[in-house]
Amino acid sequence: MTVQIAPSILSADFANLARDLGRISEADWAHVDVMDNHFVPNLTVGLPVVEALVKASPLPVDAHLMIADPDRWAPGYAEAGAASVTFHVEAAAAPIRTARAIRAAGARVGMALKPATPIEGYEDLLGELDLLLLMTVEPGFGGQPFLDLVLPKIRRARAAIAGRGADVWLQVDGGVSAQTIERCAEAGADVFVAGSAVYGAPDPDRMVGELRALAEQASARAWWQQAGQRPDQE
Ligand code: DX5
Ligand code: ZN
Repeated sequence: MTVQIAPSILSADFANLARDLGRISEADWAHVDVMDNHFVPNLTVGLPVVEALVKASPLPVDAHLMIADPDRWAPGYAEAGAASVTFHVEAAAAPIRTARAIRAAGARVGMALKPATPIEGYEDLLGELDLLLLMTVEPGFGGQPFLDLVLPKIRRARAAIAGRGADVWLQVDGGVSAQTIERCAEAGADVFVAGSAVYGAPDPDRMVGELRALAEQASARAWWQQAGQRPDQE
């Protein structure tokens, strides 16, 4: 299992996004938060800006859609060149159709769950996904404190992925920092979104390296890396 770091440009300088994309060259993905002021009480960027970011970014773009009606809009982000497109299951009327439409448009497909949305009931969708995003804050804003109450859900999601032999990355987003990333990795996450921790650091690229090292060490000792061990045996 490979650790991946996806800095969120929500905490970058919106007047200098192209420049700030160049400050995370050590990362694996550029995480772009699309908010529509309906699904979440905040407004960021939409399709034209994401399309421009795809062209300007040295890293593949990981589009996180916090928007209403992703069934209608999500495939367009894949067509615009985002390498990964994640929609919220709470907003989707037809998550399976939407997942397949994103894949058909050539992107990896992610499905996101807010902190209070249980994983139970969605396990059978794992085969349709490349990535499961578990929010570790209420979506909408950067800089919020990490919600420890999501950790058991991360463990259950990792167990569900392992139990099905599914090749699904498990992403966490919200409040991820040098203080919290090890908890996430130990619980089973392998893709880490960090906004304020990376762009609030004096050297974002150096922070990417620090976060990666912490996550790699933590996941190396994690239950889910040890064959046969179950989370309830810890
Ligand atoms: C929140 C966004 C996050 C946000 C994370 O709704 O989805 O990607 O940028 O920011 P931090 O890392 O500061 O919590
Ligand atoms: Zn996000």
